[in-house]
Formats: sequence, structure tokens, C-alpha cells
Amino acid sequence: MNDELTLIAERITGARRLTILTGAGISAASGVPTFRGEGGLWRQYRPEDLATPDAFGRDPRLVWEWYAWRRETIAGCQPNAAHDVIARWSAGVRPGSDPGTGRLKVGVITQNVDDLHLRAGTRNLVRIHGSIWELSCWDGCPAGTTPWRDERVPLADLPPRCPHCGGLARPAVVWFGEALRDEHLRAALDATACDVFLTVGTSAIVYPAAGLVHEARRQGAFTAEINLEETPASTAVDVAIHGGAEVILPRLADLL
Ligand SMILES: NC(=O)c1ccc[n+]([C@@H]2O[C@H](COP(=O)([O-])OP(=O)(O)OC[C@H]3O[C@@H](n4cnc5c(N)ncnc54)[C@H](O)[C@@H]3O)[C@@H](O)[C@H]2O)c1
Ligand SMILES: [Zn+2]
Repeated sequence: MNDELTLIAERITGARRLTILTGAGISAASGVPTFRGEGGLWRQYRPEDLATPDAFGRDPRLVWEWYAWRRETIAGCQPNAAHDVIARWSAGVRPGSDPGTGRLKVGVITQNVDDLHLRAGTRNLVRIHGSIWELSCWDGCPAGTTPWRDERVPLADLPPRCPHCGGLARPAVVWFGEALRDEHLRAALDATACDVFLTVGTSAIVYPAAGLVHEARRQGAFTAEINLEETPASTAVDVAIHGGAEVILPRLADLL
């Protein structure tokens, strides 16, 4: 594994642009349950059956109870060493040095809705699946389509209401079967034009996020995966490292 880490470090050192895609695994060490794997279930419901517009349409209270439980869990969690390393890199505390420009542009795309990257101080962050701390109007009233922040735990009302039209509010997250916001998709695709693309703690099966590493590779990026387990991306990347992001990223940072 040391040789592989050294190889990634060398590639980052020579890079002008580094893009990092993160998924639920990066927050696992902070105590945020992932969807797949242990601890993913809540009252015997699968996330795939709750995080959909259909589920919300059928039973908004049930879906909100699940989100309220997740908000409560996440409220007690802190960013871990992996979030901290990425935040430092994004702030230009430079990993490696490009002899050409002396600068490295770091972009971070996360599928996580927990905002732990934000709390770690990450810059240049695209939250393609939104935030569990933001709400929007379920009915889509004009003012309520712009998400608003509500970090109260517990929420004042369950289910919460839209302050603009009085209708139902929903979590401002992207559910299964929903499209990403155009500007997020564009930013994520732009970020695939990079020299090094790291995919960290994602099961690599939820599209379009799962396609980004392939797109980066197609455009010539050096690609690496950090995950506890083998994923569908493992065989497609240049280097796949098996281990916890909270262990591997600090080790990688030490090599730069
Ligand atoms: N923290 C969060 O905000 C959160 C939590 C659960 C699910 N989600 C949502 O679930 C969807 C599911 O996709 P996903 O791929 O992000 O999550 P996922 O739950 O499908 O997969 C998690 C992946 O992380 C890996 N993993 C677990 N612990 C790890 C560790 N310590 N270090 C490195 N890897 C580790 C697992 O092997 C697995 O491949 C996303 O759209 C996301 O919005 C978000
Ligand atoms: Zn509304």
C-alpha cells in the first residue's frame, strides 16, 4: 500500500488540478451512518425506500421522522481527519508543488448531505445532493424553491411547513430518481477536467456521481479510489486503496 500511496502523492505533486469526490464513507468515522453496510437501516426501512419523491408523497411524516433522526445523529458528529485534510488542501495549504505554476487548484464534490466538509472549512465545494440542514417547498411555490436553512434539532414542527405558502416543506436534498441541479452537474463535470481525480468513500453505484471518475479518466486524469471495500470503480481506477479515509488521507498528506 505504501508504494501506491507514494504513487498518488507523486501524481498530486505534479498536478495543476486535483478533484476529490466524496461519499458517505468519508463521514463514517465521524459516526454518520452510511446507506450501504451496517447501520444503514432505520426501523427496518431501507434508505432507497424513503429517500424518494414517491415515499414523501405517500407518507411525508414517516420520511420526515427518518430525516429528523438523521439530523439528530449528524448534529452530534464532528468532521474527522479526512475532512480536515481535504479542507486544508482546498484552502491552498498546498499538497505538493507544481514546478510550472506553484499552484494547485483543488475542487471537492460531495454526495454527502451532512455538511461536515463545510464545517471543516472546505472551499470550492459542490454539494451535488444538497444539505440535510436545508429545506425547500414540496409544492414548489416560487419563493420556496430557493432552499432555506433550519438547523433546529428537533425541528419546531413535524412535518415542517413552507414559510412562504404554508404548504409542506421537504428536505432540500436530491432524492433517488431526482435530477441534480444544472449548475451542480455542470460544476461536477467541469471538475472532471483535472490531472488527478480521487474518489473517496463512495459505493460508486449512484449515478451521475458514479460516472465522474470514468469521465475524468477518459479525459486523461490519473484516478485513485480510497474505500474500505472493493467497489464497481475499483477495477477502473489507476490505483485502488483499501482502508478508512480517516487513516489513508492523513497518510497521503504526510507524503506530500
Ligand atoms: N454522510 C452523509 O451525508 C450521507 C450518509 C448516507 C448516505 N448519504 C447519501 O447516500 C447516497 C449513497 O451514496 P454513497 O456512495 O455516498 O454512500 P454509500 O452508503 O452507498 O456507500 C458508502 C461507501 O463508503 C465506504 N466506507 C465506509 N466506511 C468508510 C471509511 N471509513 N473510509 C472509506 N470508505 C468507507 C463503504 O465501503 C461504501 O462503499 C449519496 O447520494 C448520499 O447523498 C449521505
Ligand atoms: Zn411554498
